[in-house]
Amino acid sequence: MVNIAILGYGVVGSGVYEVAQKNAESIKRKSGHEIRVGRILDLRDFPDHPQKTLFTKNFDDILNDHQISIVAEVMGGVTPAYDYTKAALLAGKSVVTSNKELVATHGTELLAIAAQKGVSYMFEASVGGGIPIIHPLNQCLAANELSEITGILNGTTNYILTKMIRANQSFEQALADAQAKGYAERNPSADVDGHDACRKICILASLAFGKAVDYSRIYTEGITGIALEDVAYARRLDYVIKLIGYARRDAGRVLCRVSPMLVPMTNPLAGVEDVFNAIMVHGDSIGDVMFYGRGAGKLPTASAVMADIIEIVRGDGTSNYIWKQTDEDFLDDYQNDTLALYVRTKGVSKKDAERVFGEIAFEACLNDSGEAAFITPAGREADLRAKLSALPAPISCIRVLQ
Ligand code: HSE
Repeated sequence: MVNIAILGYGVVGSGVYEVAQKNAESIKRKSGHEIRVGRILDLRDFPDHPQKTLFTKNFDDILNDHQISIVAEVMGGVTPAYDYTKAALLAGKSVVTSNKELVATHGTELLAIAAQKGVSYMFEASVGGGIPIIHPLNQCLAANELSEITGILNGTTNYILTKMIRANQSFEQALADAQAKGYAERNPSADVDGHDACRKICILASLAFGKAVDYSRIYTEGITGIALEDVAYARRLDYVIKLIGYARRDAGRVLCRVSPMLVPMTNPLAGVEDVFNAIMVHGDSIGDVMFYGRGAGKLPTASAVMADIIEIVRGDGTSNYIWKQTDEDFLDDYQNDTLALYVRTKGVSKKDAERVFGEIAFEACLNDSGEAAFITPAGREADLRAKLSALPAPISCIRVLQ
């Protein structure tokens, strides 16, 4: 019998409990052991819970319980999750988590402590919710040199953009809709400003390229500036707008970015709608591979947390995820990427734009506002922006996925 503890009995924590109960038999068959929830930490009271004696408000009850060998940290945030995780690892307990903020901020240190203590720190649930992506990057694709990751990594913003595209809702209307459905938080900044996607691409890039990426240095732009006019022009030009987390490695340099992008209708990411996530990975042997599914939610996320627990119980989990801290400055300036730009502007004719950029895709005037939109040819972003400064300041400018 293996005893686990759950830190935080919110949406994910109660999902882990539910999956552990509901699928106890098959989990036992797959892991070779009965896995029992031995303790749950939460500051709230759950007087009607069928196992209310499991609850504690004191982390020391878990830390000092030698029966508990695995801790599922699903509280979110850095404080107190960091202290609890570090203490558990130092006490020789393995930790699994869905906490992308903690992994992106302190993952390197926590992985090193886990390796030193001969236990595991695993975080399949931190990116893509229930979508298997951490294990595939680390194991199934291990024979590849991975060069590029392009992902829709945030379900809330994908839902909002889908409502703007499909139902013609404004950003504000779509956000209110997402909040009413419980997808977006009351304070939606982490999602709509791109921070959640930034942490996720940071974790994926660190893992795929083997070096700790500093998430605070990743260029991050959210979707608050996307207008329905941009959605409409994009449609006429055969694109949809998505929030894209992007990372690539080229000659040892790593470029990471989170921003809205126009995605060609022909790209599989264009069809990823509502709260779904999808991640495209390019490896030198496999070519492109895409992972798609529910990127958030109680049971999908709990399924990924439980999968890590099962792997540890099987004895497969130790020192699984390796990336290293390096002093080398390997992060490339995001403006060195080669892409095209979508530009919405006023008082600029096709001729004006072509004088600066050469031949372009141009859409004039959706209404009688005198606006127009065009897509530049592909080039280095910094060069394209320098050229753009020869025209009147654009109303909006969005990167275009190649
Ligand atoms: N807020 C996140 C999202 C939850 O919308 O994708 C899952 O990380």
